[in-house]
Amino acid sequence: MQIIKLNATESTNAYLKELLAEVALKDFTVVMAREQSKGRGQMGTVWESEPGKNLTFSVLKRFDNFLVSNQFMINVLVSMALYEHLKKLHIPDLRVKWPNDILSGHHKIAGILIENILSGDKIQSSVIGIGLNVNQIHFNNLPNVSSLKLISGKNLDLEELLKSLLETMGEMFDILKSKNSTKGNALLEKYKSVLFRKDKPSTFRNENDELFMGFITDVSQEGKLIITLEDGIKKEFGLKEIKLLY
Ligand code: BTN
Repeated sequence: MQIIKLNATESTNAYLKELLAEVALKDFTVVMAREQSKGRGQMGTVWESEPGKNLTFSVLKRFDNFLVSNQFMINVLVSMALYEHLKKLHIPDLRVKWPNDILSGHHKIAGILIENILSGDKIQSSVIGIGLNVNQIHFNNLPNVSSLKLISGKNLDLEELLKSLLETMGEMFDILKSKNSTKGNALLEKYKSVLFRKDKPSTFRNENDELFMGFITDVSQEGKLIITLEDGIKKEFGLKEIKLLY
């Protein structure tokens, strides 16, 4: 595994994608940066992180024969790698907020941005960007955000944490090597069982800015969020179609 360490870059995802367009990179090439000037979040948001305090990195995952229709499984594998790893570090009350925010209690501690490079109906490679709040303790204007230090009181060594986390990610991706899909299905079930606000009355906002109530009851194989509305009817929503408010 090669780890490219940068002092500063706009975004490790953008850097890794540009590098990939120029040179052949091995599976699990990693780019980490001390500072990002244009860190990217999901849905065009900005990922802010105090320089030198947190992990901001991207991992290249190459695939031989991975159908685009299974792409949600990549989100599940990466979310569960983070979940299991943070659990080993005794971070309490871990939840995955659909599709792939990692929360401790009500506080977001990590975000994942996956950008897939396609070739026909296959995913050729994925650039998996992870922002994990580690030693930062001030999050000025960001509500419901926390870090491992704020939760555990301990400072962690960023490079050590990165290396051990990459091992956990590698182990998770090994699930895809097995011909038998049982482990993948079990992981999806585990993902669903640790979903934030599962089966709890919740408020959502739809694309038309309308608020509505419902219960998160399931996630489909394609990664759609299944919500049971107050009248008992189930509806599926894609990422751009809904926002969970509380
Ligand atoms: C989100 O929660 O919205 C996703 C945040 C992903 C942030 C990481 S930091 C490293 C990588 N490079 C980026 O520009 N974004 C991801």
